[in-house]
Amino acid sequence: MELKPKILAGNWKMNTDLQEGMKLASTIDKWVNGCTADPHVRIILAVPFTHLAEITGLMDYRRVSVAAQNCAAFEKGAYTGEVSAAMIKSVGAHYCIIGHSERRHVFNEKNEALKAKVDLCLKHAVRPIFCCGETLDERKAGKQNEVIREQLETSFLHIAPEDLKRSIIAYEPVWAIGTGETASPEQAQQMHAFIRKLVAEKYENLNAQEIPILYGGSMKPDNAEDLLKQPDINGGLVGGASLKVESFIDILKAF
Ligand code: PGA
Repeated sequence: MELKPKILAGNWKMNTDLQEGMKLASTIDKWVNGCTADPHVRIILAVPFTHLAEITGLMDYRRVSVAAQNCAAFEKGAYTGEVSAAMIKSVGAHYCIIGHSERRHVFNEKNEALKAKVDLCLKHAVRPIFCCGETLDERKAGKQNEVIREQLETSFLHIAPEDLKRSIIAYEPVWAIGTGETASPEQAQQMHAFIRKLVAEKYENLNAQEIPILYGGSMKPDNAEDLLKQPDINGGLVGGASLKVESFIDILKAF
């Protein structure tokens, strides 16, 4: 049995209305199950909150799971406009993206709040997809490893080993997200190996190879294969290219 987990996650961000989203999700669902791509790749669609209940109900096949893109840092109560981990669970979603760079940079989310979100997701049996990534300035200053270590250690790598096994890490260099500029396969591999080493150091009794580490940042059909064949890259968290069935399926075929 192959040990290396493989995951292709689409992050729709704030795109599609409900009707468009339902059409996109059901077309992907049918394609995934009809196509000859590697059957061991798990597919996750991270859709807007407004689409979660409909889309989880729409998925016919077991290969496609649905994720939220964020959740509240609080359990419940007077937090107008927020959506809790328990609510996400209640509509049948299995995963939630936490700490995406757009949340960190546009909405100013800090490591401490992200830690609370991770804990609330796990409490409510929602699996976190925890994102980390350095900015261009941080990379230019040679600080990328330090930044990633801090993001992971302050918000994520405190969780129990059995919870880590159900979670996903996504490395998304901020300078590569939505810019068309991808980390080279070597740059991505280096960081993924570093993250895996951090996991192995913290969790001595766990096989770090079992933890999925996804690459995100302008992954497309024409660069997916080179990225995916790196030993420490377990898949992709794909933004722009997940909004078109053809490009998403082409990335799936690159596994
Ligand atoms: P991108 O987005 O593929 O459009 O760069 C990735 C992400 O933000 O998750």
